[in-house]
Amino acid sequence: MTNETVPKTAKLTLGDQEVDLPVMVGSEGEVAVDIRQLRAKTGAITYDPGLGNTGACLSKITFLDGEQGILRYAGYPIEELAQKSHFVEVMWLLLHQQLPTTTQLAQFTHDTTYHTMLHENLKQLFNSLPKDGHPMAVCAAAVGALSTFYQNPGQNTPEQNWIDAIRLLAKMPTIAAYSYKHSIGQPFMYPRNDLGYAANILHMMFGTPCEKYEPNPVMARALDLLLILHADHEQNCSTSTVRTVGSSGANLFASVSAGISALWGPLHGGANQAVIEMLMSIRDGKRTAREFMELAKKKDSGVRLMGFGHRVYKNYDPRAVILKKACYDVLGQLGRKDPLLDIALELEQIALSDSYFVERKLYPNVDFYSGIIYKALGIPMEMFTVFFAIGRMPGWIAQWLEYHRDPEARITRPRQIYMGPTARSYLALEKR
Ligand code: CMC
Repeated sequence: MTNETVPKTAKLTLGDQEVDLPVMVGSEGEVAVDIRQLRAKTGAITYDPGLGNTGACLSKITFLDGEQGILRYAGYPIEELAQKSHFVEVMWLLLHQQLPTTTQLAQFTHDTTYHTMLHENLKQLFNSLPKDGHPMAVCAAAVGALSTFYQNPGQNTPEQNWIDAIRLLAKMPTIAAYSYKHSIGQPFMYPRNDLGYAANILHMMFGTPCEKYEPNPVMARALDLLLILHADHEQNCSTSTVRTVGSSGANLFASVSAGISALWGPLHGGANQAVIEMLMSIRDGKRTAREFMELAKKKDSGVRLMGFGHRVYKNYDPRAVILKKACYDVLGQLGRKDPLLDIALELEQIALSDSYFVERKLYPNVDFYSGIIYKALGIPMEMFTVFFAIGRMPGWIAQWLEYHRDPEARITRPRQIYMGPTARSYLALEKR
């Protein structure tokens, strides 16, 4: 259908009732039936578990075409941003849906640099948690705890929201690095304001007070690329969570803390850690790549080819295309080899020629190759999803802010189709 041929209404017949529901068309041609009046007019609701057919909001931030493998931030193709832009600029782009001017970029770079320190008392929160606790849990706790240091009761004003956004963007790398330093028992490293965003993360992760640490520019650029590619992905599980929590009026820190928890799961951001665990199990001879693939096709095995498949992409994830090439570039520039890359390539090759994966349109997603680069940068496996969270931060915030600007936004409160017992009388204990 083209814009001109899309009908203005959709007719729904329910028994002897007939209703006309308005049809909406997005700027990239997405056709949606507006069902807001459905229940009022018919008494019926819709059923869509996993919300795969439900548009929950109007958004100007990210466009994604899963059939064609297209991803754009505010109109700019991800491939161009990956090549020509940098993460700080992309953060601004997502927050404002336009590229910054020189002055805006300078101010924003200053702000996201000079708010990186954490309140000293927050260190006690890290120190009170077990060293072997997963860093995603530590980061969710620390981000949630920011709302105890920056209290904003009932003043969700644009000015206050912007200050909170800057604080979160600036402090998330520090929180992430502290969660790592705590896990290995090393002193926390304060941020360095003379370094760029990605280089500063490497400094806080790998520097120690005992010697000078100069971040490797190749590594900083590779990390910056990873952050750009993870920066937003429209209404995914964690972003929907951030919007949902925000819809109750909860503050930005509380909303994003919930988003971090949602990201942690292996079907979402946690897949990047799961991919490397899967590749290592094949490398260590637990099973061959082919045996693993056979297992991944069996429903009752509980095994999935991690880093493959996507709710929206029914084609190669464009981020995976960029990351696959970046694996070669980064390993080459660092003069490294990684047998896990060969195993990943073998799994991909088997999948792309196996009818199970072909028929279901399962392709590599962003998590399939990212772990190989994180690993080359020396980032430990448990921290992979935390790095995803640093990257996704501007997306979460941009979507939360957009929600708060939306005059039609309402608290998120889906309905259900009750399938339990109908009304019955209470039975006294002795009669059961
Ligand atoms: N390995 C084997 N089979 C799969 C896989 C996989 N990775 N992914 C989907 N399938 C099968 C699934 O069993 C189902 O088969 P059938 O039609 O016979 O029942 C079919 O493909 C459709 O899958 P689905 O589970 O209904 O699809 P979904 O949209 O609900 O789930 C997904 C999407 C990403 C959760 C899923 O593909 C998956 O579990 N992938 C592995 C985990 C992963 O890589 N997650 C990262 C997602 S991308 C980045 C992010 O969000 O963080």
